[in-house]
Amino acid sequence: MTDVLIPTSMDDVPWPDDAAELLRRHQESIFPSVKLFYEEPIELRAGEMQFVYDGAGRQYLDFFGGIATISSGHAVPEINEAIKEQLDRISHTSTLFLIRAQIELAERIKAMTPAKLNKVFFTNSGTEANETAFLITTLARQTNEILALRHSYHGRSFATTAATGQAPWRNSNNSGLHVHYVGNPYCYRCPWEKTYPSCDMLCARDVEAVIRTTTSGSPAAFIAEPIQGVGGFLTPPKEYFVEVKAILDRHGIPFICDEVQTGWGRTGVADFGFQAYGVEPEVMVFAKGLANGIPIGGLAATDELAGAITALSLSTFGGNPIATTAAMANLNFMVTHQLRENALTVGAHFRARLEELAERHPMIGEVRGMGLMQAVELVHDRQTKQPAPELMHRVLNEAKRRGLIIGRGGLHANVIRLCPPLVVTTGDVDAAVAILDEAFAASA
Ligand SMILES: Cc1ncc(COP(=O)(O)O)c(C=O)c1O
Repeated sequence: MTDVLIPTSMDDVPWPDDAAELLRRHQESIFPSVKLFYEEPIELRAGEMQFVYDGAGRQYLDFFGGIATISSGHAVPEINEAIKEQLDRISHTSTLFLIRAQIELAERIKAMTPAKLNKVFFTNSGTEANETAFLITTLARQTNEILALRHSYHGRSFATTAATGQAPWRNSNNSGLHVHYVGNPYCYRCPWEKTYPSCDMLCARDVEAVIRTTTSGSPAAFIAEPIQGVGGFLTPPKEYFVEVKAILDRHGIPFICDEVQTGWGRTGVADFGFQAYGVEPEVMVFAKGLANGIPIGGLAATDELAGAITALSLSTFGGNPIATTAAMANLNFMVTHQLRENALTVGAHFRARLEELAERHPMIGEVRGMGLMQAVELVHDRQTKQPAPELMHRVLNEAKRRGLIIGRGGLHANVIRLCPPLVVTTGDVDAAVAILDEAFAASA
């Protein structure tokens, strides 16, 4: 992999004029709901594996990976070659024709997942994939009732915002889905103010209570992310999904597992989050990391649920030759370079280094996550746990000034999300931790 270059301080480098001009044009022409990072937003013009470069040629270690999407690294020659070759042959045919790469990718996904996930449908994004998951489960079960978790994020569309359990992201509540929210497994801020493990897993048991008291008794599905991504990498206790799945099975309710952030080896433990938790969903939704940044999404479902759409249904671009070729090349690269295994070992090192930072910086309330999906929740003080979004804002900018891109999340926008490309080394992690250390000190 690329040698580690420890980024130098950027204190003296001015914000490029053309970035200021681009910002003005962005504000003039793009929907105002599309927010930018930083007091002085930047354009990332180039990338190479775990590094990105702005308009002034400054190098950054990328520890947000295009929102948990760059799995193998930026501009990976092996992946790009495969895409270019396909592009030169044919870029689009529509799903009315056989698409070799699409069929191969579906077979590959089936081989990676439980046998009962026997049919695959491709979309262009996670949002569309979750929409399709709602479509098949509500059709199959003849009800529009869905169970979702508080603090969840499932997309930006009419129905998926309604199933998203965070007010800042809920544009619409009128989709026709009847969503019933379950208390989420957020041990640091337990909805019942209990302490794990003496809590008796009230969060899992809440699923039963919500089914019995707020639904007709037989909702269409339960949707959950194995680790809540936008929610701030909220990582459930190890027995959570086993207990929830037992409840769902007793009621015959399908489990839609939203693997948009956790899929494709990011947790290090397994290819998918549900495998890390030892359960099998009836629907698995995926997107983001599958094609290393080329737009793709989709779902794998049981024969019964996949067959619930009896009308005609297709996606013009879904599973197109470019996206599915990119996905195959990306999966090949990940296997050849053992990136899941790397996520496990480098992720463990990262976690240990972040825990060290927590010993020195009282603004760190909790470190949590799995593999190369690690979060740091910032608080004003550890006693009250009062969320500190202003500190988050400062740390984000201070990290950027020092050459590190990090992410933000959580209901209160006070959680640092760290999800670098899975090629990062322990040296990259040490460089990122050194910058975070300085950024915390400068922000306190
Ligand atoms: C867990 C989860 N589901 C769904 C989505 C929506 O995916 P997309 O932005 O590709 O529509 C996201 C996006 O962040 C996500 O994190």
